[in-house]
Amino acid sequence: MQLVGLGTIRFMYQWGRVMAFQERERRRTTGATHSPRSLPVYFIAAVASIGGLLFGFDTGVISGALLFLKQSFALNATIQEIAVSAVLVGAIIGAIVAGRLNDALGRKKTLLLLAVIFTAGALLTAISPNLVFFLVCRVIVGLGIGAAASVVPVYISEIAPSRLRGALVTFNQLAVTVGIAVSYWVDLAFAHANLGWPPMFASAAIPSIALFLGMLLCPETPRWLASKGRWDEARAVLEHIKGEQPEQELADIRRSLSEERQQAGIRELFIPGLRVALIVGVGLAVFQQFVGINTVIYYAPTIFQQAGFASATSAILATSVVGVVNVLATIVAILLVDRLGRRMLLLGGSIIMGVALVMLGIIFAHNAGHIGSLTLIALIIYILAFALSFGPVFWLMSAEIFPTRVRASGASMSSFANWTANLLVSITFLSLIGILGAPVTFWLYAFFGVLAFIFSWVLVPETKGRSLEQIERYWENRRHWDKAA
Ligand code: BGC
Repeated sequence: MQLVGLGTIRFMYQWGRVMAFQERERRRTTGATHSPRSLPVYFIAAVASIGGLLFGFDTGVISGALLFLKQSFALNATIQEIAVSAVLVGAIIGAIVAGRLNDALGRKKTLLLLAVIFTAGALLTAISPNLVFFLVCRVIVGLGIGAAASVVPVYISEIAPSRLRGALVTFNQLAVTVGIAVSYWVDLAFAHANLGWPPMFASAAIPSIALFLGMLLCPETPRWLASKGRWDEARAVLEHIKGEQPEQELADIRRSLSEERQQAGIRELFIPGLRVALIVGVGLAVFQQFVGINTVIYYAPTIFQQAGFASATSAILATSVVGVVNVLATIVAILLVDRLGRRMLLLGGSIIMGVALVMLGIIFAHNAGHIGSLTLIALIIYILAFALSFGPVFWLMSAEIFPTRVRASGASMSSFANWTANLLVSITFLSLIGILGAPVTFWLYAFFGVLAFIFSWVLVPETKGRSLEQIERYWENRRHWDKAA
């Protein structure tokens, strides 16, 4: 296994060199400074979204693997919580470094690097000889997840034409949900085959390598190239991707970049105007988690068992139904996000999530009769509402509300807030149920649903159909849209 791991990493390194050499030759022979391949923007978004798939897979895979890890490493309850949370700790760190990496290396190279981290992490986790080694590997995988969570949406938002931006960035969230669902099935398959946890984690190497190879074909984003003064390349990418004369967009990018040169880096996020953008990014991040989504994603089988699904199999089966609904509703979100707009989804979603959570609390409070099936219905309504609203819309908005010069830092700060809130909810859920009881715990999340509604109503702008530069001017103009726009 160790040899396979090292061999794979070496192969990726050599392959990267071959592709880079071919690219240099292509430019030399065509005489172009940069001549990106003409790839459909859907393809590019799909490749980058493999980063999202890994985010979902690597967070979801622990649920089933835990049953086997418990035996291999003789884990008590506390260590189990640590085993679940290690990846979140890594993700918090990954979210912090993502902004800098993304600006320094560029979006494409950062994604290539993350693909290598994901591959190495997957293979090393699978060969963990002891608990400490395993935990370190999970933190490393977490680094990749935390970084990918903000780098992928930024990459796609900078590549996509405005009218498709919502849908294409939401591809990433779709990939996250598919990753979660697939991880449940992979766990189930290897559990049935009695192969235990190592192949569950190793499977992540397959999408990781696909991400690496796919990204070698994809271009750098025009906005990052322009921010480094590489205007010819930026123009070439715009022409190839959007298949139209990119003059207007280049002029917009030029304007926003020339203003930014006069201003400082990350500190700029705190200046009046942009401060509200930061509040929106961080606020959406925190509400996305405080409505309790990951109590469902990580602990659904536990909830179902408490609701009376006697066997583990039936609880896991009910969980996979939730996983599938999550995927299907996200597909609907892709169709709606550029039509109904972000605000409508956030407002509707937070109300419905709130209602479902209140229902869940009531069901648990009157613990009688058919609570199992009622719980399943309430959770399905809840996950539907989440997948149509805060699930995709937070990640989308974290990538589109910040100006180019601070987009990577803004997205990475929002991502950092998201992972920290995730950790907070995930490690307190079972204790809260113990202290407050299940009904009050769910009502607490419902209360955050109400706050999320008020927050979205008051502060979140409708960015549907606006160019990234128009959004930038919205903050500069103290939250007013250009008259012409
Ligand atoms: C959230 C994750 C969550 C997933 C569920 C994502 O948008 O950030 O924390 O597990 O959605 O689909």
